[in-house]
Amino acid sequence: MTAPLEISRPLPGANFGATVRLANKLGREMPEGLPQALADAGGLLLIPGLGEISDDPRLLVTMSYLFGPEVEDYRTLLTRVTMAHETVPEIFMVTNMVPGARPPPRRPDPPLTVDGKLPVQYPHRQGWHTDQSYRRPPPDISLFYAATPVARGSGQTIFASGYLAYDALPANLKAKIDTLEGLHAQPGSGRSRGDAEAGKTPPAALAHQRSQKQPVVRTHPVTGRKALYLCESGQMDWFDGPFVGVESGPYGEGARLLDQLMTHFTRPEFTYVHEWTQGDVLVWDNRCLIHAATWYDADKQQRMMWRTTVRGNPGALYAGEKRSWIPAEAAAE
Ligand SMILES: [Fe+2]
Repeated sequence: MTAPLEISRPLPGANFGATVRLANKLGREMPEGLPQALADAGGLLLIPGLGEISDDPRLLVTMSYLFGPEVEDYRTLLTRVTMAHETVPEIFMVTNMVPGARPPPRRPDPPLTVDGKLPVQYPHRQGWHTDQSYRRPPPDISLFYAATPVARGSGQTIFASGYLAYDALPANLKAKIDTLEGLHAQPGSGRSRGDAEAGKTPPAALAHQRSQKQPVVRTHPVTGRKALYLCESGQMDWFDGPFVGVESGPYGEGARLLDQLMTHFTRPEFTYVHEWTQGDVLVWDNRCLIHAATWYDADKQQRMMWRTTVRGNPGALYAGEKRSWIPAEAAAE
C-alpha cells in the first residue's frame, strides 16, 4: 500500500494543474495515484521536495514508468549523445553546462508586459511547443526535474492548457478546425518560419526526418476531452504548412490562422508560470498542454534540468502505426 496523495488544485495563479505532496521519500515503492491525479488536474502536476533524485537519478526513470509503458532511451537517434545523462540514458539533460550545453531562449522584446509581468502570450512570447510533435505517434508525457535550477525570476517553464483554450473557442472557429491537421517539423530541420521568411531552400529530408501531420484538435485518450494541439515558429513546417490544405508559407492564410490560434491558446488565463525550486518535479501531458522555456543569464548562472519522455498511449488515431522517426520503420511505411 502506498500512502494517499495530498493534492491541492489548481496550481497557484492558474486555472489548471495541481500540487502533489508525497508522504514518503521516493524509493522502491512509488505513489500509484499519480496518473489519475494528472488526468484530474488537466495534465500538469508539481511534485516538490524530490531532491533524492539527484543522488539516485534512476528514481526519475522508475517514476516515469508509472505514467506509461515506454520511457525513451536518448541514446537512440540523438544527434548529440552528450545531451543524455552519462549513466542513465533515459534522462535528457537540459543545461547550459558542458558537454551538452545549449543556450537558453532569447529574452522577449520588451522583456516585460506593459503591466510589468513576464510575457506569456504569443507572439510576444515565442517558443511554445509540445514535445516531439514532429514524430508519429507523438509522446504522451514529460517529467522534468530541477537538479540545479537558476534563480527565481528567470529560467521559468510556462504552460498553456489545450483543454481550456479549446473550450473557449467560438463555435465557428471550432467548426473550422475540427478536422484540420497541422504539419509539424523537427526544430533545426530548415523548415521553420524564419527559414521560410528568409527564402531559404530546405535541405532534403530522409523518410524518418519528414514533417508529420497531427490533428489540430486532439481527443485525449484518457479523459476523452478535446484539446488544441499546435506549435509555432520553430516546430511547424512553414514550407508545406503550417496546415494541410490551407494556403501554405509564412504569409498565407495558414500563417494567419496559426497566429490567431496561438494568440488565443496562450491567453494568460489559460497559462501557468512555474518558478523552479531545487528538487521540484513537474509532470506534464503533451497531449493537452503546450509549454515554453524562458531566458536566464547563462553567463552568470548554471542550470541543470533532467527530462524523461513517456510514450505508448497516443490514442486510437495512431493505432498500429510504425514509428516515423526510426529509419527502418519510416522507410517501410
Ligand atoms: Fe519541451
